[in-house]
Amino acid sequence: MTKKIPLLIDTDPGVDDALALLMAFNDDRHDVVGLTIAAGNVGLRHTVRNALKLCEVAGRDDVPVFAGTPEPLLHPAPDAGYVHGQDGFGDIGYPPPARSAETEHAALAILRLSHEHAGRLLLVALGPLTNIALALKLDPTLPQRVARFVVMGGAVTGHGNITPAAEFNFYFDPEAAHLVFQAFGRIDLADWEATIAHGLHHERVAEWLRADSPRARFYAGISEKTRLWSIDRRGDHWYAADAVAMAFALAPEGALEVAERPVAIELQGAHTRGASVVDWRRESGRPDSAHILLKYDQDRFEGLIRAALAAG
Ligand code: RIB
Ligand code: CA
Repeated sequence: MTKKIPLLIDTDPGVDDALALLMAFNDDRHDVVGLTIAAGNVGLRHTVRNALKLCEVAGRDDVPVFAGTPEPLLHPAPDAGYVHGQDGFGDIGYPPPARSAETEHAALAILRLSHEHAGRLLLVALGPLTNIALALKLDPTLPQRVARFVVMGGAVTGHGNITPAAEFNFYFDPEAAHLVFQAFGRIDLADWEATIAHGLHHERVAEWLRADSPRARFYAGISEKTRLWSIDRRGDHWYAADAVAMAFALAPEGALEVAERPVAIELQGAHTRGASVVDWRRESGRPDSAHILLKYDQDRFEGLIRAALAAG
């Protein structure tokens, strides 16, 4: 029997992060070896608590949760509580998780797990890249032990979601994103524009959420606020960025179109800080390190979500 692929997820739960985590928990080709938690959507205290609660609801208290860094590397940034709820999980006031996070810092856990699973590790980053950047500063050899690195972030033709030019994860900690893109020879990137290209019709999502499972029931509750916000602000489709990235991570065979290009992260610029600048005409001479997801099999994508919510 083929050994499962060890999967380490850095995440800032967040409602779309939670959907991505349920997809990972439901995939029999991967073994989730840990969750390292970033600040981003909401503050670290909430993102850690949300990760622990989601593991509990999914019956996955075997997955260790490691708290990361509460602030971006250099400059404070606004959170996205207005999208996800002030607690990041729809402000439903769920009973606190029974379990606590591990005492090991996320950056140290990333390094330790990269050694334990050297050469096989699938690393997926669904939030600001602060923990990954810190791990790189502690040990620049980290990329050598990571088999594949999938990142949700950026806006490859400049259609941002937090500023006109920048996507939230990269805008929250541009210096971290810069360090990460400098360090990894290959990053499989699912950006905001790929998210928009793979929207989920609200009526279809509502049907999936009627599945008779604790996961579906919990997810229906924590996602209601952001789904209503999305209907009001973005129309009849819901956009779950981290779910797109997780589909790309778990089932890369579903990617129908990928572009390989150099990408740089803008750190200055009154209007462009945090932008992911793609060298589409390859004028810079830098390597094509970003493998940018342009099109994914929508039916496969939706099937992964439906199955993750219905799982017992
Ligand atoms: O821009 C979308 C990203 O920002 C997603 O990862 C979402 O969870 C937020 O972190
Ligand atoms: Ca996220």
